[in-house]
Amino acid sequence: MKQFRRGAALALCGLLAFGALAGCSGSGSADDGVQIIRIGHNQSTNHPTHTGLTAFETYIEERLGDKYDIQIFPSELLGSQNEMVQLTQTGAITFCVASNSLLETFSENYTLFNMPYLFSSAEAYHNAMDDPEVTGPIFESTKQAGFEAVTWLDAGTRNFYTINTPIYSPEDLKGLKIRVQQSPTNVRMMELLGGSATPMGFGDVYTALQSQMLDGAENNELALTENGHGDVCKYYSYDMHQMIPDILIGNLDFMESLSEEERAIFDEGFLVLNQTQRDAWEDAVAQAKDRAENEQGVEFIYLDDISAFQEAVAPMHDEMLAEYPDLAPIYELIQEHNAEFAAQA
Ligand code: GCU
Repeated sequence: MKQFRRGAALALCGLLAFGALAGCSGSGSADDGVQIIRIGHNQSTNHPTHTGLTAFETYIEERLGDKYDIQIFPSELLGSQNEMVQLTQTGAITFCVASNSLLETFSENYTLFNMPYLFSSAEAYHNAMDDPEVTGPIFESTKQAGFEAVTWLDAGTRNFYTINTPIYSPEDLKGLKIRVQQSPTNVRMMELLGGSATPMGFGDVYTALQSQMLDGAENNELALTENGHGDVCKYYSYDMHQMIPDILIGNLDFMESLSEEERAIFDEGFLVLNQTQRDAWEDAVAQAKDRAENEQGVEFIYLDDISAFQEAVAPMHDEMLAEYPDLAPIYELIQEHNAEFAAQA
């Protein structure tokens, strides 16, 4: 599977290199003058993100099909998320979906949404991410890096799951090698929780779990089924440590090449993507849980008290605000959403 992915990615790189030599950018031009828009992501074709992108493709092509041909590449066909962000920066591809975790290494402002226990409930998270005063300053901040964040996507709640050791408290993480996304925030979080952080790309996790190089990982429920992690990890504990959005980023030169009318249509398309992906999310999680429990034999552990996890990582909020004081007003706005949509007891 991985071999296939790498092979396909190499073939595509060859194609893109050829396109570049022939004078085309990643938003390549077909012979008929229709511009090809390549969008990469790392999820399967069953995933709500793929469903959302397909709706985006239909929306844009129905309105601007004489100018743009949208092509979606799932399952890391264009490379890992890190590689895809770089391809988007250079314009070798036009868009990709990246976890907010990774974007923190491109612009430190993204650190904010990676904080553990930042949001008091899923409603607070959704409302904060829908508030342009919260996302605007952060989404604008990667323009210097050559890309623009154009919308966010739901990626649920991240929880720990393990091969042998059920996790009830941070104590249980001691000495365990846990895969985290490649970001300083995630490494710090694991350090405070007592586990051993093993940063790696998403596509490498299944093999690392299977060969027991890892004791576990952390993610939303879809990783159990769509990525097969539940074939190996049999305990999934709801400690709810992060709600980290995925972000669709677009190459800046491409975004700036759009006329005002086209930009308006793309903006509507981003809303269609956001809404379709979010509408599909809850059902996708329910189905993943059902399959994980009944077909993979995963035990879901519902923790009555997560305060030990929260207390262990609490210093991270102050550390972030001390390091990036400019984020304080946005952090305060998020607290207003938290107060309005506090978790039900
Ligand atoms: C989630 C998220 C992805 C991310 C992955 C990971 O699946 O939606 O964008 O790549 O977690 O843990 O790397």
